[in-house]
Amino acid sequence: DAGAQDFGEKPTTLGQIAEAIQSCRRCEIGCNGTQAVMGEGPESAALMIVGEQPGDQEEMQGRPFVGPAGKLLRAHLEDAGISEEQSYVTNAVKHFKFVPRGKRRLHQNPTAKEIDICRWWIDGERALIRPRLVLALGASAARSLLGRTVSVQKERGVPHVLDDGSELWLTTHPSYLLRLQDQGRADEEKKFANDLRKVAARLS
Ligand code: URA
Repeated sequence: DAGAQDFGEKPTTLGQIAEAIQSCRRCEIGCNGTQAVMGEGPESAALMIVGEQPGDQEEMQGRPFVGPAGKLLRAHLEDAGISEEQSYVTNAVKHFKFVPRGKRRLHQNPTAKEIDICRWWIDGERALIRPRLVLALGASAARSLLGRTVSVQKERGVPHVLDDGSELWLTTHPSYLLRLQDQGRADEEKKFANDLRKVAARLS
């Protein structure tokens, strides 16, 4: 598979992954002293939702999508009728990449290389949960799942088929929506809601 790296024996439980990511030092992000954030949700979830990486809040709490982007995501999931029991939420990259700026930690995008290295873990989660549907939020998640650079705006709205036969849908990242304002925000949020509705329709 393009970009994916083989690190030997595949993990056999989610608990194993949760433990192993804490000591993963295969890329520089894993060496920055932060805690890794494992995916969360039922092992039987039909839908896997994939973000980019934990943010500031997620790193502190050790849980995915608990900060501002997570709140926006969860509100939209509820509107679309996608429940927490149906979805396992995780990230393409398990550690938080940032630059310190005074008291704040500013998010930095992971490189393609870092995403490809971390694929070992998300592929492990996918192999164990075997979701029927996968929703990638933003370009980093899309790269993680497709193994290539993706234009989300061009490739959203239609299903892609993954190696295991599951259906992948692409949409924008909620953090991107949070950076927009006024009409631009309203327009993009409408498209985001529309993408989620399509996924919801495939779930039922
Ligand atoms: N953004 C992400 O991509 N993932 C999180 O867990 C939080 C914010």
